[in-house]
Amino acid sequence: MLILAIESSCDETSCAIVKDGTEVLSNSVSSQIDIHKEYGGVFPEIASRLHIENINIVIKDALSKASVTLDDIDAIAVTEGPGLVGSLHIGVMAAKTLSWSLNKPLIPVHHIAGHIYANKLVGELKFPLLSLVISGGHTELVYMKDDYQFEVIGKTQDDAVGEAYDKVARLLGLDYPGGPIIDRLAKTGKKNYQLPKVKTENPLDFSFSGLKSAVRQLVLREERFEREVIVEDVAYAFQHAAVDELMRRVNLALEMYEVKSFVLAGGVAANSEVRSRVSALASEHPDLNVLQPPLWACMDQAAMIGLAGAVAMEKGIRGNCEITANSNKQLLSY
Ligand code: KG4
Ligand code: ZN
Repeated sequence: MLILAIESSCDETSCAIVKDGTEVLSNSVSSQIDIHKEYGGVFPEIASRLHIENINIVIKDALSKASVTLDDIDAIAVTEGPGLVGSLHIGVMAAKTLSWSLNKPLIPVHHIAGHIYANKLVGELKFPLLSLVISGGHTELVYMKDDYQFEVIGKTQDDAVGEAYDKVARLLGLDYPGGPIIDRLAKTGKKNYQLPKVKTENPLDFSFSGLKSAVRQLVLREERFEREVIVEDVAYAFQHAAVDELMRRVNLALEMYEVKSFVLAGGVAANSEVRSRVSALASEHPDLNVLQPPLWACMDQAAMIGLAGAVAMEKGIRGNCEITANSNKQLLSY
């Protein structure tokens, strides 16, 4: 069974061919990061235009790398949302066109379901499962009693953690996306600055805007006293404070919910400190099936949409030519 999957929710245009719901035959990604860098973030109008330019190229490339043709494809999976509406629209239009012209089923997929199911690349998802979803647009704890049964048990009340990384990078005068740069700088930084702990009403919820403001205050204070701002040390302080916030909630959720697996998901899952703290979690909980996606699968790409799409297909989830980009799509159970 071959699924052709498409992802275009933000600034990556991607197409993948996934076999039997587990094997990624090809995964073609066209990233727009170098263009958006000039604007310090994703410029939605430019993103949509670039998706239009690149969508056919990645589809052809994915088919050719997998050595298959459109006639071999059994179903089309696509990110329906959430994301930038203009960006999503291009992927959804392409998927609807392929589904209609090939007369093959269309499977709408939630972007976060894709990030979670990317873990199928490294092992079996055993349920009940807890996932920490951390990206530029999301910071959530998702509990799954079974396949495709999502329950958001904690979420950010303001900024997503990736967004906070990018904003802190910006105020330190670093490039976009700031997450990987702060991660790199933090490795040579020292424990020199203190940042506050964050409290939320629901102890499983997150909040990152206070932490971001605390970094701004710290920089302003150092400038006021005419002291040099040691960027590596600020990166170290922010990275440790942010990851502490994430892991405190994970540990609490693991006390509150009995789960067989813990899986990491989203762009920030590429963060070195998060990964090492999650590896430590695996040693602390030897009975827990702890999975982290490979680095290439943390970023947005269509392989994850094909992996989640195969499960969605089994669940009978289908779209038709009426579906449209859903920028606020909710993570529902099926
Ligand atoms: O999942 P993703 O590719 O796009 C969204 O769905 O949002 O995540 C992108 C986010 C960006 O905010 C980027 O700065 C962050 O992931 N990111 C990182 C790292 N690599 C990417 N944040 C911290 N450390 C990293 N190594
Ligand atoms: Zn994403």
